[in-house]
Amino acid sequence: MDYSHFMTEVSKRRRPATTRELTKIAYSAPKSTVSLAEGMPNEKTFPFTEISVKLYDGTSFILDEKELAAALQYIPTQGYPPLVQALREYQRRAHAPPLWESRDIVVVSGAQDGLSKILEAVIGTGDPILVPNPLYPGVEVVVAPHQAELIAISQDDDGPVPKALRETLRDRQLSGEKMPKIMYINPTGTNPTGIIIPLERRKEIYSIACEYNFLIVDDDPYHFMHFDKEEPRSFLSLDTEGRVIRLDSFSKVISSGIRVGFVTAAAPLIASVELHLQSSHLHAPTLSQVIFYKLLKMWGYDGMLAHYMRLRCFYKERRDVIAALAHKHLNGLVDFNVPKGGFFLWIKVRGIENTWKMMMQRGVTEGVIMAPGAAFMMDTTKPCNAIRASFAKASYEEMDLAMERLAQLIRAELDKNYTIENVDAR
Ligand SMILES: Cc1ncc(COP(=O)(O)O)c(C=O)c1O
Repeated sequence: MDYSHFMTEVSKRRRPATTRELTKIAYSAPKSTVSLAEGMPNEKTFPFTEISVKLYDGTSFILDEKELAAALQYIPTQGYPPLVQALREYQRRAHAPPLWESRDIVVVSGAQDGLSKILEAVIGTGDPILVPNPLYPGVEVVVAPHQAELIAISQDDDGPVPKALRETLRDRQLSGEKMPKIMYINPTGTNPTGIIIPLERRKEIYSIACEYNFLIVDDDPYHFMHFDKEEPRSFLSLDTEGRVIRLDSFSKVISSGIRVGFVTAAAPLIASVELHLQSSHLHAPTLSQVIFYKLLKMWGYDGMLAHYMRLRCFYKERRDVIAALAHKHLNGLVDFNVPKGGFFLWIKVRGIENTWKMMMQRGVTEGVIMAPGAAFMMDTTKPCNAIRASFAKASYEEMDLAMERLAQLIRAELDKNYTIENVDAR
């Protein structure tokens, strides 16, 4: 595949920084090599002498002198080399991606970092991008400054509708409009709607991507946070042509503050992300990468899966509780589907056209904060009757109170609408 077709002129103009390349060379050079090339500080001057980490199962590890020295230093942009190696193996086991030899990975500071770098590699001024609507707002904030054209693909309870996608593309082609080079998808436990795109639909969307020659950004931070019996198959696992860019994040499953994620894609696309990193924060934080690497090494892939399984049980119970509370307090006022994964309940309010003011103004002053649905719509200025509520963190008592307060807000809003309509009618 010719990846230069997908890249912006800016991205094609990126060149490696020699000093960064030398760090990579020094890291993999024989031990006998002496390097005076880099601007690394001397670790002996750092105030830290030991880092020890305790885990929830009572086990612990420390970073020994050598690991600590590495953890506090600059590293090659691609990531802490032992972690890069371990993540390659992790990815092979998790998704068995076809064309594995032609792919590479790069460690990033969370999925959002990978998302912004990959979108900026492909989206130039005014370029079109296919997006589901509603969508994770982290896309819009990246592409809006490039005046990208967001092409909304309508969704049903199984995600973006392939028929709508195909028709949109066909119509654009017939009318000679610029064709999109990329589609953004958040396929599992979708933020904000909590759906999971079924396998057949994933296959259909993938085949449309092949037909119309666009890349797919498979942003999948909730991949292991589904509440189905079976693990969903990722777009990466279906990718026989090398057009899927997969974003993995450990934010939701290990720690969001550790800021570790990684991008998996065809080597030229990874090279472009790496060059962009060289121009921004050089590499994802080493300390986070080393701590995460130690955990991964201690647990192994199977240990990680066992941890994910525990998380699934934890969040599934919370999902059930919020759904029950929504039934208890909001019956007759709203519609919602029980989320199939992720962290969010997507609530559609009956009889209210736009929830923005109700949540952002009255909600805040009356002690309940939930995200207004418009924040997730392609056009955030249009009215939206939905609300996104997270069931991840609040206690059950807090969730109960939040749902009760939401019911009061909705009732008050409906009363207000009724009064205004009556006044208008008079
Ligand atoms: C769909 C989606 N993508 C990306 C992110 C960002 O994740 P990270 O913390 O890995 O940057 C989030 C976080 O909420 C998300 O929901």
